[in-house]
Amino acid sequence: MARIFVTRELPGAALARLKGSHDTTVWPGQLPPSYEQLREHSAEADALLTLLTDRIDAQLIAGAPKLRVIANYAVGYDNIDVAAAGARGIQVGNTPDALTDATADLTFALLMAAARRITEAAAFARNGQWQTWEPAGFLGADVHGATLGIIGLGRIGQAVARRAAGFGMEVLTTETRDQHNLEHLLRRSDFVSIHLPLTDGTRKLIGAQAFALMKPTAILVNTARGAIVDRDALAKALHTGQLAGAALDVTDPEPLAADDPLWSAPNLLVVPHIGSATWSARERMTEMAVENILAGLAGTPLPYPVPA
Ligand code: DGY
Repeated sequence: MARIFVTRELPGAALARLKGSHDTTVWPGQLPPSYEQLREHSAEADALLTLLTDRIDAQLIAGAPKLRVIANYAVGYDNIDVAAAGARGIQVGNTPDALTDATADLTFALLMAAARRITEAAAFARNGQWQTWEPAGFLGADVHGATLGIIGLGRIGQAVARRAAGFGMEVLTTETRDQHNLEHLLRRSDFVSIHLPLTDGTRKLIGAQAFALMKPTAILVNTARGAIVDRDALAKALHTGQLAGAALDVTDPEPLAADDPLWSAPNLLVVPHIGSATWSARERMTEMAVENILAGLAGTPLPYPVPA
C-alpha cells in the first residue's frame, strides 16, 4: 500500500478511490498545512495531492525520498518546482480543461461587474440608499462593442474570446513575448484580461509601464495569478486615476494583508480566487488529480501531465 498525502478535503466522490486502495491521509484543516507540516507529511509519502497554496520546492522534494508523483489540484503549477521533481523522476500532473469554462465565465462576470458597478449598486440598494431612479446614477462603461485585450491565448484566453464575440466586442490578443503587440493591445483596449501562467517571464509583467500605456478609462481583469500584476503599481494607478478600475480573482499574496494599499483604492473589486469554483469544475478536478495519482503510483504515464 502506497502512502498518499492529500493537502485538503476535496469536492466530489473521487477521493474515495484513493482512500479505498491506499494509505491516504487527508489534511483536516480549512487552512493549508504549514510548510513544515507539509514537509513532515511528504517525508514518508509516495504521492502528494497538492493545492496551489502548497509550496513544493526543491528542499521539500529532497526530503521526500519515496515520492513518485505530485498531482496538483489546479491547472497552474507555479507552486511546484517541476525541474527538481523531474530530476528525481517524480511525475507531476495538473487539471487542465476542467476549469476552462468556469474561469472564462468568472472573467466575464468580473468584467461586467466592474464595468457596470454591480457590487457598488447592489450595496447601495441593500443599504437603503435607493430613493429614486437617477438619470446619472451608477453610470458605467459599455461592454458591448468595447475592445477587449486578452493577454495569453491558451485555453482560458480563447474561451474568454468566444464569450466576447457574443457581446460584439473587438478582441485583441497577444502572447507575452511579443512586446510590440502587447503595447498595442494595452493602448487600444477598454478592458484588459490576463490569462497567462506565472513564470519568471510573466512576474510583474503588468506594472507601471503597462498602466502608463493603458487608457485612463480602462479596466483590468485578472483571473490568472496575482503576481503577474505589480501590486504597488496597480494601487498607484487606481489611486491616481491612471486606470479606471480593476477586478481581481487573484492577488499577491492571497489574501491581501488587511493594510494593503490596494484595499483603499477606488473601483477595485476583489473576489477570493474562485475562478474554478463551480461544482462540476471542482469535482472534475478531483477526478483528474486522483487519476494522476493512481497512474503515477502504478508507474504509468500520467493522463494529465504538466507540459514538458
Ligand atoms: C488553477 O487551476 O490554476 C486555478 O487558479 C484554481 O483552480
